[in-house]
Amino acid sequence: MNPKPRVLIARQIFPEIVERLRRHVDVTTNDAPVDWPRDELIARLQGHDGVFVAATEPIDATLVAACPQLKAVCSMAVGYNNIDVAACSARGITVTNAPDVLTDTTADFGFALMLAAARRITESEHFLRSGRWQRWSHDFFCGADVHAATLGILGMGRIGQAIARRGALGFDMKVIYHNRSRLAPELEAPLGARWVDKETLLREADHLVIVVPYSKASHHAIGAAELALMKPTATLTNVARGGVVDDAALAQALRERKIAAAALDVFEGEPEVHAALLAVPNIVLTPHIASATVATRTKMALLAADNLIAVLHGRAPLTPVKA
Ligand code: DGY
Repeated sequence: MNPKPRVLIARQIFPEIVERLRRHVDVTTNDAPVDWPRDELIARLQGHDGVFVAATEPIDATLVAACPQLKAVCSMAVGYNNIDVAACSARGITVTNAPDVLTDTTADFGFALMLAAARRITESEHFLRSGRWQRWSHDFFCGADVHAATLGILGMGRIGQAIARRGALGFDMKVIYHNRSRLAPELEAPLGARWVDKETLLREADHLVIVVPYSKASHHAIGAAELALMKPTATLTNVARGGVVDDAALAQALRERKIAAAALDVFEGEPEVHAALLAVPNIVLTPHIASATVATRTKMALLAADNLIAVLHGRAPLTPVKA
């Protein structure tokens, strides 16, 4: 009898997911709340056929070359900019991600962040908690309306469309978007969504939401020049990846009130957060939790586990990533 394939779960995960994997493969776990750096990951991966990762493990060309037994890299994240997919493909390693299962949960959170920035929710809460609330006044924490405003979406994939649905159908927003490719007319029509060039998006959006995947091409897609095009009353929300927005330029734009407010769930170099962002009041900051509900994180992890089981037993992956 062939030995069971061996899988390394590179980070702590729900016990039921470990149990599910154990029924099909031999499992080695990371039981500590630590992210293994690349070299430690290489050492621990020796002798393993598959690895369970999330958005943080660096699966680069060096790791791929150093782990000749590896056949499957399965991530519970939808974003896979931490994985060198070309290097994996060149060595015949299957890469999978976790699309769809987190779309609505992430869209809910993106919308919540946009509302919080526009209506100054965390900024006013900090004010209250610090004991500074003395009296009500007519312009006290006035923000910007979200209903009937123009929602601008950069990156109109599944999550972008789910945010557009919330805006158009729930908040009567006018939806404009910029994406490499236009949506089919039958997807645009129910949302009243209009494709515009990037400059028009930046100039016209009252609330800009960034949902574009990180790549070399999207690095600092929003920097000082782009922020300068936005309305001084506008908000910017990023639930995509750190690095799509130039965090230092954003902090400066917020400080100088070039835009009214921002909300970030993702950061360049996270979990470090640029000190200048921490110093501005008109920003909502959350620690990369847009997909964080128990139900959704469980589905994401289950999908990664099922991808590993399929690939290591010679079946087609459920959600492969193409190089
Ligand atoms: C994803 O799935 O890409 C989310 O950002 C969580 O890492």
